[in-house]
Amino acid sequence: MKKIRKAIIPAAGLGTRMLPISHAVPKEMLPIVDLPAVYYLVEEAVKSGIEEILIITNRDKECMENFFDFSVEYDSKLMSSNKTKELERLHAIANMANVYFLRQKETKGLGHAVGRARAFVGNEPFLVLYGDDIIFSETPVCRQLIDSYERYGRSVVGVKPVPMELVAKYCSLKVEAIEGSENEYFCDDMIEKPKKGEEFSNLSILGRVLLESEIFDIIDALPPGAGGEIQLTDAMAKVARERGVTALEFEGTRFDLGSKLGLMMANVVKAAEHEEIGEDFKRFILDFAEKLKK
Ligand code: UTP
Repeated sequence: MKKIRKAIIPAAGLGTRMLPISHAVPKEMLPIVDLPAVYYLVEEAVKSGIEEILIITNRDKECMENFFDFSVEYDSKLMSSNKTKELERLHAIANMANVYFLRQKETKGLGHAVGRARAFVGNEPFLVLYGDDIIFSETPVCRQLIDSYERYGRSVVGVKPVPMELVAKYCSLKVEAIEGSENEYFCDDMIEKPKKGEEFSNLSILGRVLLESEIFDIIDALPPGAGGEIQLTDAMAKVARERGVTALEFEGTRFDLGSKLGLMMANVVKAAEHEEIGEDFKRFILDFAEKLKK
């Protein structure tokens, strides 16, 4: 079985749910305390054993590249003012992994963005981390997907149950339990943004998938799907119908950073555990919660 070494982070979406800020700042660069959202994705991939990461961007997202690069100006400033801890931190981020960037050129959907990565991936299995889904977990979710792939030898999609009335915003999977597993299902069909009555279940793919390189030919042949976009779910549905994929209900709390509420909630969680401001922040939030009750 081939080792999983590569990951793609599609981050070229326009982020219309995060307007007006996303008009000038990519949503993937919005801060969770003092780190941009995309940092957490790269960190999760690296902690899962990934060596090469391709971030799919567009012409307005150059600041993402700068974040993972050295900066001569900051280096000399921090060195001359003896701020070695800060300097080490910046260098550690730049050296986290081999991070590459590729522009999508046209915003034609998540499937289209993934399709741009064919040359980077070659014929290896690979992970996709959706650029606005941040998941905090004990074991990195990518690692959970890799472990499942190694168990069953087929593509894996990370899923969570969502309230039935919200399934229409996501996708819906047709599944049956796998004997001997508490959190894995065999999935043989799925549908993106189902209309009422089209739902298979309330299990939806949230943010992480592990795919085989066969997906690229499928994506290339896809017509536009829901919303007029090339949908990754439509490509994965073909794999599911032909051979089946594993749906893994992962452990972890997921935040949709493409939404205002998700961004704020992720900030509260990380601020409360932050080594510099955590204690003060918790005091503030508890005090604030009391005021809200009145
Ligand atoms: P979303 O649909 O959540 O992102 O796509 P969006 O289009 O930016 O969101 P809204 O609805 O306008 O607010 C899921 C992921 O796929 C990426 C996005 O950046 C996001 O991380 N994506 C989406 C691309 O890379 N390219 C696309 O053409 C579309």
